[in-house]
Amino acid sequence: MTQNTLTVTDNRTGKTYEIPIENETIQAAALRKIKVNPDDFGLMTYDPGYGATASCKSSITFIDGDKGILQYRGYPIEQLAEQSNFLEVAYLLIYGELPDKSQYEKWVYDIMHHTYVHENMARLLEAYRYDAHPVSMMISAIASLSTFHNEAKNVDDEYTRNRQVMRILGKLPTIAAFTYRHRIGRPYNYPNSDLSYTANFLYMLDYMGQTSYEVNPVLAKALDVLFILHADHEQNCSTAVMRNIGSAKSDPYSAMSGATAALYGPLHGGANEAVVKMLTEIGSVDKIPSYIERVKKGEFRLMGFGHRVYKNYDPRARIIKKIAYDVFEVTGTDPLLDIAIKLEEVALSDDYFVSRKLYPNVDFYSGIIYRAMRFPTDMFTVLFALGRAPGWLAQWIELVTDPEQRIARPRQIYLGAADRDYVPMDKR
Ligand code: CMC
Repeated sequence: MTQNTLTVTDNRTGKTYEIPIENETIQAAALRKIKVNPDDFGLMTYDPGYGATASCKSSITFIDGDKGILQYRGYPIEQLAEQSNFLEVAYLLIYGELPDKSQYEKWVYDIMHHTYVHENMARLLEAYRYDAHPVSMMISAIASLSTFHNEAKNVDDEYTRNRQVMRILGKLPTIAAFTYRHRIGRPYNYPNSDLSYTANFLYMLDYMGQTSYEVNPVLAKALDVLFILHADHEQNCSTAVMRNIGSAKSDPYSAMSGATAALYGPLHGGANEAVVKMLTEIGSVDKIPSYIERVKKGEFRLMGFGHRVYKNYDPRARIIKKIAYDVFEVTGTDPLLDIAIKLEEVALSDDYFVSRKLYPNVDFYSGIIYRAMRFPTDMFTVLFALGRAPGWLAQWIELVTDPEQRIARPRQIYLGAADRDYVPMDKR
């Protein structure tokens, strides 16, 4: 008879333990009962990078990494990218269902009427040096939003949470555009709530007082789809940070500032910037074989390749590759695209990459599109953060409303020195 349990024999003691299996998972705490002596701490699992540890139960995003499937609240990413828009997807992620017409209209109105920031925020950004990295500016600007909205710390109050959600989604593009305008030494443009979410963002970035200025709808649409593709990816590094900070009941601005800091790293959201640097360094298609050889020797990694979860083609990369052609019709082609396509082809026919199941990920083509749209490379991760914001918020709300969640506090295996007496400096 099959049973949903795991039987473990501790060969140190000969004792047998029966551990329940639920959702293909055992409770790590069940292992703590496995002891040699009654006052032992009990067994733990060691899992650096959390490759096999579930930290939460979630109903937001489903990924089947082997099959290359990504769904938000059960809806395939391909359908959302094709038929929905970013703000509707944000609503879906945060509230669990697609909005009806009146819910959608109110949602869009609320977000587009929370786009202005306090003037002190503009002054705060002014204080940065001309060459400050925009992600570093974003990290501190997001954290400082909590100083403008003191009530945000009431994280257990639903109304307060929802207000911060609108504020964050409304204000992030404004802050992002300000960081860019600061960098190029141009006056800030204030939000225009008559435009769509991404058209308003592009307007704040580019408008220079022209009487006939219009946002290119193809570029606004492409950015909207890119944001949808980045909107959530379950328990990735930055989302885990959002949840970890959130578990201490910090306000969502502080948690999101931490999440943005995690996203900044080149192994996470910084990879699209690294991809463009890599393609530029390769320079031409004939240099690809020697570059690949150096990757195989372990000198460096192929950026935009490989994923902790996907062991198949990242479905987002497939959609992004298609968008690239729409964008290039407006902007003209980019020679880096030819290098990227050839690099992908060479890597995917090489046993090193095939045997390790390394495929292009979301960042492989997104950087090339952003570059074609004339975003400087250091703005790429800012764009990732704008797209990921609804996912971070959805995961944060799920965390703070989950009665099973506790403050995040991992254990360690202590291997350091024990029982030493302090030695005064002149005796060392
Ligand atoms: N280039 C060359 N080899 C690689 C790469 C790569 N990009 N990625 C993994 N490998 C090799 C790695 O050396 C190891 O080989 P071996 O078994 O011989 O030691 C094997 O593949 C497994 O690698 P791993 O480090 O155990 O894989 P991981 O799950 O810890 O790392 C990753 C995932 C995304 C950090 C990694 O694939 C990587 O560094 N990729 C490049 C950076 C990148 O594109 N990041 C964006 C990720 S997608 C966007 C996001 O979610 O933020």
